[in-house]
Amino acid sequence: MGSKFSLEDLFTLTLATIFVVQVLPQARAALFTDPSTLPNHKEYDYIIVGAGPSGSVLASRLTEEARTNVLLIEAGPNDAGQLSLEVPFLASQLQPNMQFDWNYTTVPQAGLGGRTVPYSRGRVLGGSTNFMIYTRGSKDDFDNYAALTGDDGWSWDALQPYFSKLENLVPPVDGHDTSGEILPKIHGTSGPLKISLPGAPLPSNSRVIQATQELRSEFPFNVDMSSGDPLGIGWSSGTFGGGARVSASVAYLQPVLGRRNLDILVNTTVTKLIQTGTKDGQPVFRRVLFAQSGSAPIFALKARIEVILAAGAINTPQLLMLSGIGPVQVLRSLGIKPILDLPDVGQHLADHPLVTNQFGVAQSSDDIIDNISRNATFASALLEQWLIERQGIMTLDGQTQIGWLRIPTNDSAFNGAPDPSAGRLSPHYELFVVPGFMSSRGTPAPTTGFFNTFLTALVTPTSRGSVTLASVDPFATPIVDPNFLSTPFDIAAMRFAVRSAVRFASAPAWRGFLTGPAAGFAEVDTDDDDSVDAWVRAQASTIFHPVSTARMGKCGDARGAVVNPDLTVKGARGLRIVDASVLPLIPAAHPQAAIYVFAERAADLIKSRTGSYK
Ligand SMILES: Cc1cc2nc3c(=O)[nH]c(=O)nc-3n(C[C@H](O)[C@H](O)[C@H](O)COP(=O)(O)OP(=O)(O)OC[C@H]3O[C@@H](n4cnc5c(N)ncnc54)[C@H](O)[C@@H]3O)c2cc1C
Ligand SMILES: *[C@@H]1O[C@H](CO)[C@@H](O)[C@H](O)[C@H]1NC(C)=O
Ligand SMILES: *[C@@H]1O[C@H](CO)[C@@H](O)[C@H](O)[C@H]1NC(C)=O
Ligand SMILES: *[C@@H]1O[C@H](CO)[C@@H](O)[C@H](O)[C@H]1NC(C)=O
Ligand SMILES: *[C@@H]1O[C@H](CO)[C@@H](O)[C@H](O)[C@H]1NC(C)=O
Ligand SMILES: *[C@@H]1O[C@H](CO)[C@@H](O)[C@H](O)[C@H]1NC(C)=O
Repeated sequence: MGSKFSLEDLFTLTLATIFVVQVLPQARAALFTDPSTLPNHKEYDYIIVGAGPSGSVLASRLTEEARTNVLLIEAGPNDAGQLSLEVPFLASQLQPNMQFDWNYTTVPQAGLGGRTVPYSRGRVLGGSTNFMIYTRGSKDDFDNYAALTGDDGWSWDALQPYFSKLENLVPPVDGHDTSGEILPKIHGTSGPLKISLPGAPLPSNSRVIQATQELRSEFPFNVDMSSGDPLGIGWSSGTFGGGARVSASVAYLQPVLGRRNLDILVNTTVTKLIQTGTKDGQPVFRRVLFAQSGSAPIFALKARIEVILAAGAINTPQLLMLSGIGPVQVLRSLGIKPILDLPDVGQHLADHPLVTNQFGVAQSSDDIIDNISRNATFASALLEQWLIERQGIMTLDGQTQIGWLRIPTNDSAFNGAPDPSAGRLSPHYELFVVPGFMSSRGTPAPTTGFFNTFLTALVTPTSRGSVTLASVDPFATPIVDPNFLSTPFDIAAMRFAVRSAVRFASAPAWRGFLTGPAAGFAEVDTDDDDSVDAWVRAQASTIFHPVSTARMGKCGDARGAVVNPDLTVKGARGLRIVDASVLPLIPAAHPQAAIYVFAERAADLIKSRTGSYK
């Protein structure tokens, strides 16, 4: 969550001043960049579409069995040697509309006063280039998944072995004593995905902790939000280790590139799934078509066992619809021949709306981010520090502590609306502080003044949107409509969250540090519902957590869900979906942990050749 200095300027400056320029790893073997160079006559048991967290976990786990051959196809390029993907602080420079992004934009959002908002999705080996925040979420959310799907294997307790299997908790890069900041024994320590606490201090750290003591009843301290009970405010862990981003590619693919039974094809988009037969009256989809661009040659390959879609919550429903799998009416209106009527494909899209609330700070040293964006010498020195010793602010994404909070049951948000949370351990909203000016609206940072931004996100939204096709061209952008803030609960809950940020900022701990609401937020009358609501609608955008567009439901009837509890597609053969689209409901957390843990269990389900749900 950094600032908007120019990457190019920064690199030029840094590389000019730095004495030793590190040689970044070069492109590695076992990676194909051109489909025509794939080994002839090689047969693949599984073809996996998309190399984000889900596709990377599957490619790695399935090829642990030497006899299983896997082809992983990724639309974006190789991630190797890309400094912007390695330096955590540069996360904010990666999107929207940047090199490793699909560059999507939502349709106009009525709940946001008709604005459109950029809708980033990563397009590179490793998937969505996120802010690395790793939050397991609430026990109640997972137990609800088990209840909704009728499969106890998706419950919190049943998934614990998979959390342990995927995580590798490593010390923070500055080696500071973490006692009182985390409970190490509840984390895995031997998995592929490095996780650590932030390894550089921010000026707001001690004040956040002090405020949790001063306002304990509303903002209690939570020593480890990974316990299944995330409620309260505490230190946030992230998918970084040794000061560098640990993407799904770094964690799961790079270590297994030498496997002869795994081929990875980058720069190549899967454009369609092809029906290869019929079994027990159900269409079998084992063939994929792929191409490097709309004008390049089209290739076809057939999987011996299964095609697994892991293209993410936007592209998975897009690819299903392009292949004749989805709501029949929609397919017909586009001139696509329906093969399988699944009305829920592309539906139930849920995402977390985000609003930034700015406060002034008394001293420039309390605002690191604006100094970095205003002072290229300072930014360059920090990057140099990262390059030489992997230390400092560049090892952070811009935040170090997060709060997960519930709205009290007597609040008017619940007038006429049932509590949408999965239970009393699931938060309704998230609150955290960043030491600088940030704007969910995309407002450029002021050139004078110093800020801290209090971010609020609604994590139990009741608004639902959709993904659909604009065109039958697989290289065309799909229509993304998150339908943000379209329910009375969502606006009332965001209103509560903004006021909660003001209450948190009024703790004695912030005296002499914060100077009060600033920039646009200074104009808001926080006692007045209409004034807060207008602020929320004018400022909100997203924290980029779309899910549920091919959601999992109980076995059987294909109404209400797209996949079975074993992630096989309802009414089809040879086809599974493993990615953010299958989550039955949006987690009240940053979702990558849930997505990783789902993929880990999915790998075991696939290895044990389940797939008999009908
Ligand atoms: C800007 C941003 C910040 C975020 N911050 C956080 C965070 O801090 N913490 C957190 O928990 N979550 C965060 N997220 C969300 C998180 O990154 C995603 O939920 C997660 O990556 C989803 O994993 P996935 O495997 O479903 O899909 P993705 O990660 O989106 O991966 C899908 C992959 O499939 C590829 N693909 C798509 N279509 C095709 C096709 N037709 N052919 C071939 N390949 C294809 C894509 O290029 C992509 O690489 C963030 C997301 C964004 C965009
Ligand atoms: C892969 O695609 C990227 C852009 O996405 C391009 O810069 C690069 O040259 C391509 N690589 C190959 C080997 O085609
Ligand atoms: C997104 O925009 C950036 C910047 O213009 C560009 O480099 C990138 O290739 C675009 N992505 C796609 C999928 O076109
Ligand atoms: C931040 O900016 C202020 C104002 O320009 C300056 O006084 C201060 O020294 C800067 N701090 C750093 C670390 O560059
Ligand atoms: C810019 O940063 C450098 C290095 O930290 C510092 O010496 C200088 O005073 C800063 N300039 C301003 C205007 O803050
Ligand atoms: C809800 O209850 C709390 C504690 O009893 C009280 O302080 C608060 O004012 C109540 N809120 C509303 C909206 O009634």
